[in-house]
Amino acid sequence: MDYSFPRYLIAKQSVDDRALNRVVLDALKNNLPSHPLEIIEVGGGIGTMIARLLRWGVLAKARYTLVDEMAENIQFGMAWLPGWAQNFGLRAQTIGENQLRLFDDSRDIQIHFRRADVFEFIESAPEKADLLIAHAFLDLLPMPGSLPKLFSLIKTGGLGWLTINFDGVTTLEPATDPVLDAKIEALYHASMDSRPTGGDSQAGRHLFGHIAQASGRILSAGASDWVVYPTEGQYPAEEGYFLHFILHFFEESLKNHPGLDAHAFENWLALRRAQVLRGELIYIAHQMDFLVKK
Ligand SMILES: C[S@@+](CC[C@H](N)C(=O)[O-])C[C@H]1O[C@@H](n2cnc3c(N)ncnc32)[C@H](O)[C@@H]1O
Repeated sequence: MDYSFPRYLIAKQSVDDRALNRVVLDALKNNLPSHPLEIIEVGGGIGTMIARLLRWGVLAKARYTLVDEMAENIQFGMAWLPGWAQNFGLRAQTIGENQLRLFDDSRDIQIHFRRADVFEFIESAPEKADLLIAHAFLDLLPMPGSLPKLFSLIKTGGLGWLTINFDGVTTLEPATDPVLDAKIEALYHASMDSRPTGGDSQAGRHLFGHIAQASGRILSAGASDWVVYPTEGQYPAEEGYFLHFILHFFEESLKNHPGLDAHAFENWLALRRAQVLRGELIYIAHQMDFLVKK
């Protein structure tokens, strides 16, 4: 299989669409100022959140800076987003290097894709945002130290929408060998806690404390679990690819793990991949969303 990270982010869209907590989303809509918004999205990937916020009628006039460290994501986003926007009925213009404008009579979004490490971006002292978005990102960072730095990107009184923060539960059904399933789940979570670049397998629950410590006020919080399941043996949209990619994450994180029998793990991966191909595998990941006021 060809494992392409941008294609994984495309496939993840429909899973995230179902997962995002609607109470937290409503709080975001109710608290957004009406003037043209200055938005910064960190770890923004290829720009699927821009498309989602347009689809959901949340975005109308904004300057949107998307920061991501992967050049491949920026390149993919610059190619993908204009085509997506045109299908959606917006005009798309390139207005500079890695800069796009998506617009019609009532909407105007100026997007700047910035390829940068988020902490280097923060050090460049960019203009502060009305809204900071971190989607499927905070559980990859060293905490609690990263949060005050990220909050420095927000104007006083501005908002942080911090979504899809993993929170310690992975479920794969049906079981293969329950003892091995539990062992692999535990080692997978432990691998998130020991990445050299940071990460927390219980980021969701820990954010309550970290946000308070960083002087943020939680306006709304709730679960945003990924629940991927087949209907009559078929996964919607590209969710079969999404599941293969999740299994690829397991493989990358645990291959050569001293606590895991290599042959048993290979066999487990083969069984799980066969479950995806047969349209049987159900995958649940518990996550949390937050809306925060600075
Ligand atoms: C799980 S992906 C989520 C992407 C996007 N938010 C989405 O959901 O489609 C995490 C993203 O964070 C980016 N990333 C990881 N560490 C980063 C860092 N230190 N600075 C900037 N981007 C980073 C990765 O390149 C990746 O695109």
